[in-house]
Amino acid sequence: MQIAIDGPASSGKSTISKKIANMRGLLYLDTGAMYRVVTLAALQHKIDPSDEESVKQLLSQIKIHFETSDNGQLVFLNGENVTDTIRGNQVTNNVSAIAAQKLVREEMVKRQRDIAANHSIIMDGRDIGTVVLPDADLKVFLIATAEERANRRFKENQLRGIETDYRQLLEEIKHRDYLDSTRKESPLKKADDAIELDSTPLTIDQVVDTIVKWIDESNN
Ligand code: CDP
Ligand code: CDP
Repeated sequence: MQIAIDGPASSGKSTISKKIANMRGLLYLDTGAMYRVVTLAALQHKIDPSDEESVKQLLSQIKIHFETSDNGQLVFLNGENVTDTIRGNQVTNNVSAIAAQKLVREEMVKRQRDIAANHSIIMDGRDIGTVVLPDADLKVFLIATAEERANRRFKENQLRGIETDYRQLLEEIKHRDYLDSTRKESPLKKADDAIELDSTPLTIDQVVDTIVKWIDESNN
């Protein structure tokens, strides 16, 4: 069983994918975290995220692994727990430049397919339905308005005690959407055979229930 969940920033992909993974006993792979880890490694090595040659050399030195803990999934870069660091502003503001590079994408897609080869899996990202798992049993393109997505991130930050400016969040989300959907390599776009789900008016549970129903239908 392979399930692809794609969509723009903060549309709810990871929250929903994790819940469905738990309910249906699937492995969850957060492919965005992988691009974030590469971005963090570049920043740590003081490499310009758009310097393709330096990023290429760095790639072979990057080991990424995930672990499951009581607090959710942990992400490691060469054995170091970077779960929180990769969500910081510095990584978020540079990740699209790294993710636009052909060689980075080829390497990440290879690693993602290797993982998918041995597991029943739900993967979320931008190119899962179009590139990584073109034969997935179910493909969902999860969207919400930019305003609703900024609102969700704003509330999430508030809960974590992180002060953010709503307008700035909205601009950042729109900018990342633009970069991700206009890049040459594997741009963010709905696969022809994906089902689009607009989650703007929906709760997390409503989205989960809808997708679980589609999974069960695709199994029959
Ligand atoms: O959680 P959020 O939607 O903010 O982002 P993410 O899923 O962690 O992805 C971070 C960035 O990685 C995206 O803005 C894309 O530039 C890139 N990405 C990608 O290009 N392809 C994927 N399959 C997943 C993420
Ligand atoms: O992975 P992605 O960036 O697409 O989004 P996320 O990190 O899963 O979700 C962003 C925020 O929106 C989280 O705080 C979710 O709890 C929230 N969310 C929501 O309020 N309603 C939904 N229908 C989906 C997500």
